[in-house]
Amino acid sequence: MLPTMMPAVLRHFGRQTTRRAVSTWRPAVPSLSKRLQVAGLRQNSGVQNVTPQSLDEYDIDFNSPLGYGAIGTVYAGQHRRTAAEVAIKVVSSVLVPGERTQGALDSDELSDSIIHETQAFTQMIGAGVSHPHIVDCSGCFEGPAEEALSLGLDLTEGAAEEPLHYFVMERLHGNTLVEYIADKQKDGGSIDEKECSRIMRAVCQGLECLHENGIVHRDIKPGNVMLSDLSDDFDVKLIDFSHAGVVPETVDGQLPQTSAAEATVFTKKLGTQGYVAPEVLKQKDPYSASCDVFSLGCTMHALLAEGRVPHRTRGRMMTSLPDSISADGRDLVDALLSYSPEDRPTISEALKGPWLQQCG
Ligand SMILES: Nc1ncnc2c1ncn2[C@@H]1O[C@H](COP(=O)(O)OP(=O)(O)OP(=O)(O)O)[C@@H](O)[C@H]1O
Ligand SMILES: [Mg+2]
Repeated sequence: MLPTMMPAVLRHFGRQTTRRAVSTWRPAVPSLSKRLQVAGLRQNSGVQNVTPQSLDEYDIDFNSPLGYGAIGTVYAGQHRRTAAEVAIKVVSSVLVPGERTQGALDSDELSDSIIHETQAFTQMIGAGVSHPHIVDCSGCFEGPAEEALSLGLDLTEGAAEEPLHYFVMERLHGNTLVEYIADKQKDGGSIDEKECSRIMRAVCQGLECLHENGIVHRDIKPGNVMLSDLSDDFDVKLIDFSHAGVVPETVDGQLPQTSAAEATVFTKKLGTQGYVAPEVLKQKDPYSASCDVFSLGCTMHALLAEGRVPHRTRGRMMTSLPDSISADGRDLVDALLSYSPEDRPTISEALKGPWLQQCG
């Protein structure tokens, strides 16, 4: 799944495209329903009781998407009963051959992403996770595409024949850190250390909570950190669980794990080029939540160095931070970017370090 690219069939969501038949279309992930069932994530899982389950509980503005990602398109909506503002990520369970851009997901990756996001939402909702630096996830469900078509969603014919997956979240009004860095550059400025420290501390606190709840994000990068609004007083929120992994409650028949963050149980090669940890790419041994720590180091580097990620050579990382960055700031970047996961701090340890404690 490297690098993360533009969506394929999802490009049609919300656009004024003409609906048309795609003769070569085939259901690309016939086993997705089965896989969700096997993973215990179908409608009859525990999540049904605590989350909204139907599209008609919402008014959704399908005409002006809030954002596009590799697997889904996010729309603004309102929960009818409570009038709460929401953002809903809509993911089609099929890809339409011929619509794919170079490097786009294949159908297995798409169905994996739906399962990852569903597992993460289920885990967060089940555990009652509510954290100021994690987007509030209130429900996930699937529904027939006709339902969405009748409400104004534009879909290709192939995609319209398979169910859609919905992920309901708190609506955020700011930009991602990608745009935030770009806006600073446009104004001839950059993110200073004090501001970076404030953002990083919030991201670390959000990640610490995810790790404590057995969730490894696996795609930490500026594009997956959003700001709550456009004011200077913004809050910072982690988004996008399409790569997330959930630590099983029992590993090898033992446990519960004393520390979910230390469980080396993941084997899938996924992430975003420039940010993914070396052990995830290497695929030699199972890896742990420490992969998020490495991606966090790349994110901190990008924030301080106008979007540049560190350079990789065999077995080591080369940073290129501005000369003005303090010794404590450099030490933290170096520690987060330790090539070997055993040498990296945990998120909780990083939070106790001087730069995140004192700067800002
Ligand atoms: N809660 C939200 N409120 C407002 N806009 C959002 C929200 N969540 C996501 N977005 C917008 O939608 C875009 C895509 O969301 P997201 O990153 O979850 O999708 P994805 O398909 O998994 O993306 P990726 O390309 O990173 O794999 C974001 O970059 C952002 O612009
Ligand atoms: Mg994303």
